[in-house]
Amino acid sequence: PARPRVFSGIQPTADSFHLGNYLGALRHWVALQDTHDAFYCVVDLHAITAGHDPALLRQRSRVAAAQLYALGLDPERSTLFVQSQVPEHPQLAWVLGCITGFGEASRMTQFKDKSQKQGSERSSVGLFTYPILQAADILLYQADAVPVGEDQRQHLELSRDLAQRFNTQFGKTFTVPAPHIVKDTAKITDLQDPTAKMSKSSSSPAGIIDLLEEPARTAKKIRSAVTDTGREIVFDAEGKPGISNLLTIHSALSGRGIDGLVAAYAGKGYGDLKKDLAEVVTEFVRPIQERTRGYLDDPAQLDKLLAAGAEKARAVAGATLRAAYERVGF
Ligand code: ADP
Ligand code: NA
Repeated sequence: PARPRVFSGIQPTADSFHLGNYLGALRHWVALQDTHDAFYCVVDLHAITAGHDPALLRQRSRVAAAQLYALGLDPERSTLFVQSQVPEHPQLAWVLGCITGFGEASRMTQFKDKSQKQGSERSSVGLFTYPILQAADILLYQADAVPVGEDQRQHLELSRDLAQRFNTQFGKTFTVPAPHIVKDTAKITDLQDPTAKMSKSSSSPAGIIDLLEEPARTAKKIRSAVTDTGREIVFDAEGKPGISNLLTIHSALSGRGIDGLVAAYAGKGYGDLKKDLAEVVTEFVRPIQERTRGYLDDPAQLDKLLAAGAEKARAVAGATLRAAYERVGF
C-alpha cells in the first residue's frame, strides 16, 4: 500500500531556524521521510501577511530551503518547494474562502492575538485569511496527516471542516487531514527566560540558539543560560525550568535519556552540564552549517532543486485544483 501522505510548512521569517524549530518540528520532518510520502513547503505567501522587506524575504526563503536540505530533507525522498512557485495555493484558497463563514474565520485565535498586537486597523486582510490559505496548502496535496503543535490545532480543525464542507457540497474531492501528534516533542525554552518558549520573537537574542550562528556565540549563550537557584541537576520542568531545558536539549541531541544524564551528573555542578552541552550543540550545528553554506554557495544548483520540487508539487496540486474547479462549475 502507498505510504500515508504528510504535509507541513514553515515560514521564512527569520535569518535562520533556531534550535526550538529543529527539536520541536524540523527533526520530525526529517524522520517522517522514512514512513510517509512527505510534502514540505517554505510558505513565503504566508510570510507577507504582516509586512516584510522583499529582498530579505527572497534571501530568507533560500536560506530556509538550504537549511532544510542541510538538516536532512532528501529531495529524492520528499518534495520540498517554495509556496509562491506553485500558483495553485492562492487559487484554491479563493475557492475555500468562499465556503468559509466570516464569523468562522473571525474566531481564529491566532488572528485575534496577532491583530491585537498590531492594532486591528493596521492588520491586513491577508493575516485574516491566512488560515484559509493554510487549508489550501494542506488540501491540495490530499494530505492524510499534518504535524501540528498546540498553536496550530485550531487552524487544522478549520482545514478539516472546509474539506468536509466542500466534499458534502460539491462531491468528494479532498482527503480530510488528521493531526499527526508526535510523541515526546521537545518544547525548548528561552535560555534567558526559561518559562517562555524559545522563539524568533524572544526579547533577547541571548535566549535563542540560531542554527546558523557562530558556534563560539552559541557556547557563550549556553554558559550564560539562566538557571535556577540550587545546585542539583534534576529534571523538574516546573520547579527548575532552566536546568530542565538544558537537559532536554542535551538529551534530544545526544540521544541519551534524561534519567541517564541526571545520573551521570550526580555530584556535578551546573557549570559542568553547560560546558558539555555547549560542546554537544556546537558539534551538532557545525556540519549543518557547512552543508547549508554548500547549498548557498551554489545558487544555480539550489534553484534547480527547488524548481524540481515545485514541479513535483504542481503535478499533485494541479490535479487537485482541476478537480475542485470542475466540481465548483468552472
Ligand atoms: P517561532 O516561535 O520562533 O516564531 P514558528 O512559530 O515559526 O517559530 O514555529 C515553527 C515551528 O517550530 C512550529 O512547528 C513550532 O511549533 C516549532 N517551534 C517553534 N519554537 C519552538 C520551541 N521553542 N520548542 C519547540 N518547538 C518550537
Ligand atoms: Na511563532
